Amino acid sequence: MSAANRYTGLIDRYRDRLPLPEGARAVSLGEGATPLIRLENLPRRLGLEVEWYVKFEGLNPTGSFKDRGMTVAVSQALAEGRRAVVCASTGNTSASAAAYAARAGMAAFVLIPEGRIALGKLAQAVMHGARVLQIQGNFDQGLRLVRALAEELPLAIVNSINPYRLQGQKTIAFEIVEALGRAPDYHTLPVGNAGNISAHWIGYSESAGIWETGACTHCAGRCLLQGAPLTDRRPVMVGYQARGAAPFLQGAPVAEPETVATAIRIGDPQSWNQAWAAVNESGGWFDALDDEAILAAQRLLAETEGVFCEPASAAAVAGAMRDLERGRIPAGSLLVSTLTGHGLKDPDIALRQTEGRLLSVPAELAAVREAVRAGLEETCA
Ligand code: F0G
Repeated sequence: MSAANRYTGLIDRYRDRLPLPEGARAVSLGEGATPLIRLENLPRRLGLEVEWYVKFEGLNPTGSFKDRGMTVAVSQALAEGRRAVVCASTGNTSASAAAYAARAGMAAFVLIPEGRIALGKLAQAVMHGARVLQIQGNFDQGLRLVRALAEELPLAIVNSINPYRLQGQKTIAFEIVEALGRAPDYHTLPVGNAGNISAHWIGYSESAGIWETGACTHCAGRCLLQGAPLTDRRPVMVGYQARGAAPFLQGAPVAEPETVATAIRIGDPQSWNQAWAAVNESGGWFDALDDEAILAAQRLLAETEGVFCEPASAAAVAGAMRDLERGRIPAGSLLVSTLTGHGLKDPDIALRQTEGRLLSVPAELAAVREAVRAGLEETCA
C-alpha cells in the first residue's frame, strides 16, 4: 500500500495561501477535509425547499473547527521558537490547543470557567497534558487574564485574537467552494467570540479574488490567493447567538452571558469589527435564539439526519430553520451551515434532553420482545 496520496492536513493542502514562514514545520493532526453533508430528511420533514448542506467540523481531530486555526497558530509559534501556548476557552479551544501543543512538544496552559465547560472538552485538555486552570469567572474574564499574562511571560496566545488562527480557519470556505464549485447563497453559523465568522469571510473573499492589502499583517501579502478567482460570488453571512449571550443583538458587550450552549457563553467578542464587516458587506444579519430552540434543532438533526453536533453548533441549524420558514432566506437557496463541534463533546446535555427515552427492562425475552413490539408499533404507525 502506498502512502503517496495520504491526506496530511490543511497546511500541506493550502500552504500557498497561508502566511507561514518558508519551510516551517506543519504541526498537524490531519485536520480539515471535513464532510459537506446534504440535508435530506430534515428539510423534507419541515416542508422547506432548499439545497442545504452542513459542514461537519465536529469531524476534525479534536472534534471542533478550532483545529483548523490551531494547526496554523501552533506551527507559527513553533517556527518562532516558542515553548508554550496559552488560551482562555469555553472548552474547544483548550482541547485543540492541548492536542496540538502535545504534537509540537510544547507546553499548554488553558484557563476555563470552572464548572461551565462540557465534560468531553475538559477530558481532552487534561488527557493531552495541558495545565488546566479553572477560574472562578467566565470566558471574557479568562481572556483578559491571558492577555495580561502573555505580556509578562513567554507564552504564545492561541485564542482567535492570534491572526494565524483566523488564517487557518478561513480554509473552511476554500473547501466549501471547491466542493460546490461556487460559493453558497447563504452561510449560517453560531457566533461567540466572533473569530470564526470573520475567518469564513476572509476565506470566501479570497476565493472570490477579493482581499484587503494588509489584511494579514504577518505575511506581507504572501497569503493572497494566487491565480484566478474560484467563485464569482460571496454568500450572505448570517450569525446566530444564544439569547442570553447576544452582544451583537444588543450592540454592546453583555456582562453576564448565560446559555446552555456553553461554547458560545461569551459576552465580549474580540473580533467585533471584523464580524460586523462580514455581516454588513455580505448583506447578512445577526439573530438570537432561545436555548429551547437550539436544543430542539440539535435533537432534530440527530434524529432525522444521523448528525450529532454540540448545542452551540445547532444554533446554525435552528436559526436557518426559522429564517427559511419566514422567508428571510428565500426558498430555492443554496445554503451551508457550519456545525462547529461534535455532539459527543457534551454528553450531559444530550442525556438530559433524552431522559425519558431510556428504558429499563429485565433480561428476559418476553420483556424485551414486549418493549420492541411497542416500539415497532410506534415507529411504523
Ligand atoms: N461553536 C463552538 C462549538 C465553539 O466552541 C465556539 C467557540 C463557537 C461556536 C463560536 O466561535 O468564538 O469563533 O465565534 N469556542 C471558543 C472556545 C470560544 O474557547 O472553545 P467563535
